[in-house]
Amino acid sequence: MKKSIAVLRGDGIGKEVTKGAIEVLKAVAVQYNHEFTFQHALIGGAALDAEGTPLPAETLEVCKKSDAVLLGAVGGPKWDVNPPHLRPEKGLLQIRKELNLYANVRPVTCYNSLLDSSPLKKEIIENVDFVIVRELTGGLYFGKPSGRKIDNGEEAVVDTLSYKRSEMKRIIEKAFEMARSRRKKITSVDKANVLESSRMWREVAEEVAKDNSDIMLEHMLVDNAAMQLIRNPRQFDVIVTENMFGDILSDEASMLTGSLGMLPSASLSTDGPSLYEPIHGSAPDIAGKNLANPIATILSAAMLLRLSFGLEEEATAVERAVEQVLDAGYRTADVASVQKRAVTTGEMVERIKEALIEDGAIS
Ligand code: NAD
Ligand code: IPM
Ligand code: MN
Repeated sequence: MKKSIAVLRGDGIGKEVTKGAIEVLKAVAVQYNHEFTFQHALIGGAALDAEGTPLPAETLEVCKKSDAVLLGAVGGPKWDVNPPHLRPEKGLLQIRKELNLYANVRPVTCYNSLLDSSPLKKEIIENVDFVIVRELTGGLYFGKPSGRKIDNGEEAVVDTLSYKRSEMKRIIEKAFEMARSRRKKITSVDKANVLESSRMWREVAEEVAKDNSDIMLEHMLVDNAAMQLIRNPRQFDVIVTENMFGDILSDEASMLTGSLGMLPSASLSTDGPSLYEPIHGSAPDIAGKNLANPIATILSAAMLLRLSFGLEEEATAVERAVEQVLDAGYRTADVASVQKRAVTTGEMVERIKEALIEDGAIS
């Protein structure tokens, strides 16, 4: 199979983790006789430095022409003082909007060999396996107006939470579709006791449920959901929620798996190429030190193989290689414990490639 992948490395550890994922994708190509080409383009702070904009037109063109996009992470202290339209994060939001990446799918799977890496008790996190379906192109991130203003002579500010019914419907339908091939349970998370947007979200969820009576739908308030994720995460199968709730709950959920560096995601498009990205950021505190956990990005690459290229066997092989390397005791610093020596980003990638090529025969 011949496919082109646009690679937006971004900033900080984004550069290191995408390098690792590309190496794994290249190993897959050799192993399974595919031809993957990689087109690099700038986004975020790197694009600001080179082009003065966080999402150059050329980057968008490269992405639109590709079969899938792989993204590292954007942002860093260097650009934190920039005005809103010149922030690295703006580039990420723009590309999500431009490519219609409405559905951000964030699987949360606890690996048996990492049960000791989570701050939570083993009994709580054993066999946890759910997915957060996060709306990605609406809500507070994109609502207008947004900005500073003067209210009665005093400085004030506004951000707008706005959704069209159709935007709610398509993400909730996506969650129902995903639940069908899983344990058939959806938890729709909102703040319907306070927000009108959440009351409409509930209405839409009920409507979609009527056409999908084989799936069980429950509603949960977001504050309770944040607590339930820690109290009893096994109760969840598919969580569907709006943009900002999904952002926050997924970082929280990542700690069930042991680290933010473990959670991959797929940002699915309504029409064109989809984008695959770890849920973590550019981690300025460890950037450039060969310390970052590349697994979230490597697992995002596995999602790319499965969801954009239909390469199920290859995707499973990558996931199995990750599991085998963890089972063999290799860990980056974020998940290492006193008993396990931490390996570098580079070594972790090497071990995963080795496991992929030799199907588990790692030392
Ligand atoms: P972060 O996710 O970058 O880091 C939070 C903590 O987790 C840090 O201590 C970091 O070292 C650790 N961490 C994250 N990923 C890791 C990995 N793969 N391996 C090991 N440890 C890892 O969040 P932050 O510090 O709040 O934000 C830093 C910058 O990243 C900000 O500019 C923010 O806007 C940006 N950001 C970008 C994205 C994205 O591009 N998708 C996502 C989140 C944050
Ligand atoms: C994420 C990030 C982004 C978000 C930021 C960097 C815009 O936190 O991908 O989770 O909030 O969506
Ligand atoms: Mn986030």
